[in-house]
Amino acid sequence: MGNTRFIPILMVAVLLSSFMISFSTKAATNINTDQLALLALKARVNSDPQNLLATNWSTVTSVCNWIGVACGSRHKRVTALNLVGMNLTGTIPPHLGNLSFLARLHIGNNSFHGSLPIEMANLRRLKFLSLKNNNFNGEIPSWFGSFIELQNLSLSGNNYMGVIPSSLCSLLKLELLSLYENNLYGQIPVAIGNLSSLRWLYLQKNQFSGFIPSSVFNISSLVNIDLSDNQLIGSIPSVQLNISSLEGIDLTFNNLTGHIPPNMFDYLPKLKGLYLSGNQLSGRIPIGLFKCQKLELLSLSVNYLEGIIPGEIGNLTMLKELYLGINNLKGKIPPQIGNLLSLEILSLPKCQLIGAIPSVIGNLTSLKVLHFSFNILTGNIPLQFGNLPKLEELYLAFNSISGIIPPRIFNSSNVRFIVLTVNQLSGYLPSNTGLWLPKLEILELAANELSGLIPVSISNASRLTILNIDGNSFSGYIPIDLGNLRDLQILGGRSE
Ligand SMILES: *[C@@H]1O[C@H](CO)[C@@H](O)[C@H](O)[C@H]1NC(C)=O
Ligand SMILES: *[C@@H]1O[C@H](CO)[C@@H](O)[C@H](O)[C@H]1NC(C)=O
Ligand SMILES: *[C@@H]1O[C@H](CO)[C@@H](O)[C@H](O)[C@H]1NC(C)=O
Ligand SMILES: *[C@@H]1O[C@H](CO)[C@@H](O)[C@H](O)[C@H]1NC(C)=O
Ligand SMILES: *[C@@H]1O[C@H](CO)[C@@H](O)[C@H](O)[C@H]1NC(C)=O
Ligand SMILES: *[C@@H]1O[C@H](CO)[C@@H](O)[C@H](O)[C@H]1NC(C)=O
Ligand SMILES: *[C@@H]1O[C@H](CO)[C@@H](O)[C@H](O)[C@H]1NC(C)=O
Ligand SMILES: *[C@@H]1O[C@H](CO)[C@@H](O)[C@H](O)[C@H]1NC(C)=O
Ligand SMILES: *[C@@H]1O[C@H](CO)[C@@H](O)[C@H](O)[C@H]1NC(C)=O
Ligand SMILES: *[C@@H]1O[C@H](CO)[C@@H](O)[C@H](O)[C@H]1NC(C)=O
Ligand SMILES: *[C@@H]1O[C@H](CO)[C@@H](O)[C@H](O)[C@H]1NC(C)=O
Ligand SMILES: *[C@@H]1O[C@H](CO)[C@@H](O)[C@H](O)[C@H]1NC(C)=O
Repeated sequence: MGNTRFIPILMVAVLLSSFMISFSTKAATNINTDQLALLALKARVNSDPQNLLATNWSTVTSVCNWIGVACGSRHKRVTALNLVGMNLTGTIPPHLGNLSFLARLHIGNNSFHGSLPIEMANLRRLKFLSLKNNNFNGEIPSWFGSFIELQNLSLSGNNYMGVIPSSLCSLLKLELLSLYENNLYGQIPVAIGNLSSLRWLYLQKNQFSGFIPSSVFNISSLVNIDLSDNQLIGSIPSVQLNISSLEGIDLTFNNLTGHIPPNMFDYLPKLKGLYLSGNQLSGRIPIGLFKCQKLELLSLSVNYLEGIIPGEIGNLTMLKELYLGINNLKGKIPPQIGNLLSLEILSLPKCQLIGAIPSVIGNLTSLKVLHFSFNILTGNIPLQFGNLPKLEELYLAFNSISGIIPPRIFNSSNVRFIVLTVNQLSGYLPSNTGLWLPKLEILELAANELSGLIPVSISNASRLTILNIDGNSFSGYIPIDLGNLRDLQILGGRSE
């Protein structure tokens, strides 16, 4: 019976040693664990065209010297893995979950595929995770919710499908949430408003549906939000909070309806870009919008907006690009547009604008693109249009514009497209047309009242591909020299 005393002691010893073993596997990981994890990753890479891992990830040197690997200075454990743009193909092994000090994982711009192993949920120190531009598929794992330190999450450009897991909405340190260009669907969760550190929200180019939750405009740290190219419906939620950091809102190409909320702009002092094109928005352009004096880009085109273009538009003196076309806007082009000295693109096609083009637009010397086609404009083309040094594209087709074409337009060395089809323009083309148009590609003058000879000098416009003079009263023949222009299609006129 004396031996029985030893049994409990033996049991204690066994328990103790198994405790030690479990303790050691759990906590006593070291740089060798990291090496094993990275070698497991290397083994899963089945295409490495530049032989980066094949030659560099060698056990002869410490993992801390391997390409794309960084270690902490104190504890000498792997803290960052950056394999961005190495053209690697492969899958992610569960061993990666053993890199317990990993704070940054960037494997964007490769061809990794499959899904991430759940063991990665152990990476509690992760601050930065980018898988962008790979071929990962399946659903976004709900265990991403365990990355409580995460600041940047980028899964854009993969094949993720399904909904946004609600667990993502508990990552209170998240600053960047980038899920664009996937196949995600369902509603944008209301709980996204919980992300009180969020600065950049990129959900564009998916199939999200339903309403835009008003909670997204309740995140006071937002800098940029892009929900374009989805199937969102309903109206734009009004902004109730001073989001003094918000610089960009892009809701292009959804199915949004209703009015643009009139008081939305009371709270957006830094807004630089507002893109609402390609929806079904109605009502007038709200006057409040013109408080956003930092706006550089305003795009409201392709909607059902009505009423006039308010003269207050002249307040937006930082504007570089203004798109209001394909709406039901009426009235005249406000001359206050002449205040917008930084304007490069002015695009107002296919509305019901009347009256003459204000000549002050000819003072906007930064203009590159002017698009007023398909309106009911009358009067002349302002002579100053010939003085726009950067002008590249001029579209005035399908209006009732009369008078001459300002001769100096044919001297604008940056001009590529001149489209004046269907108007009542008259007069001659200058005899040296083409001599100073090295970039001209398209000259559309059809259905006007132009007359005179077709200048031989046009053959100097060596990039010209379309010359349409049909439906005018030109006399004589098409000069034979035009045959020197390769690829030229001539529409209208008789050949010599
Ligand atoms: C691996 O790449 C790193 C970084 O480019 C370099 O410093 C190191 O010498 C390379 N090691 C080997 C064995 O090629
Ligand atoms: C990743 O690819 C994108 C698109 O091809 C490119 O714009 C970006 O610069 C690349 N980023 C890196 C870090 O290689
Ligand atoms: C990646 O592959 C593409 C096409 O296979 C090639 O054009 C590109 O230069 C490669 N990039 C690198 C960094 O090797
Ligand atoms: C690391 O992870 C793998 C797979 O998840 C596991 O088999 C292995 O035992 C882990 N531990 C070490 C120390 O490598
Ligand atoms: C997160 O992404 C933003 C925007 O690209 C960048 O400015 C910031 O430095 C990133 N944060 C971290 C922790 O890398
Ligand atoms: C997140 O948001 C939801 C809905 O808005 C709310 O009910 C919940 O309490 C929030 N959770 C946290 C952790 O803040
Ligand atoms: C906005 O946030 C406030 C306070 O954080 C909360 O009381 C309110 O319900 C939120 N509104 C929306 C629409 O989420
Ligand atoms: C919004 O916040 C900014 C910066 O904090 C401040 O200058 C501005 O007056 C505020 N606007 C409103 C309407 O409260
Ligand atoms: C969005 O609008 C388009 C065109 O009006 C329509 O065909 C489509 O069914 C709409 N989609 C949704 C989700 O309402
Ligand atoms: C236009 O700008 C002036 C100051 O430059 C400002 O007082 C006025 O309120 C602005 N108008 C609108 C409609 O925002
Ligand atoms: C436009 O420029 C002309 C000179 O080209 C100048 O006389 C006129 O005052 C300018 N108009 C405006 C509104 O600035
Ligand atoms: C066009 O430019 C040329 C060369 O700069 C100049 O000789 C000519 O007078 C100009 N023509 C017009 C109409 O401005």
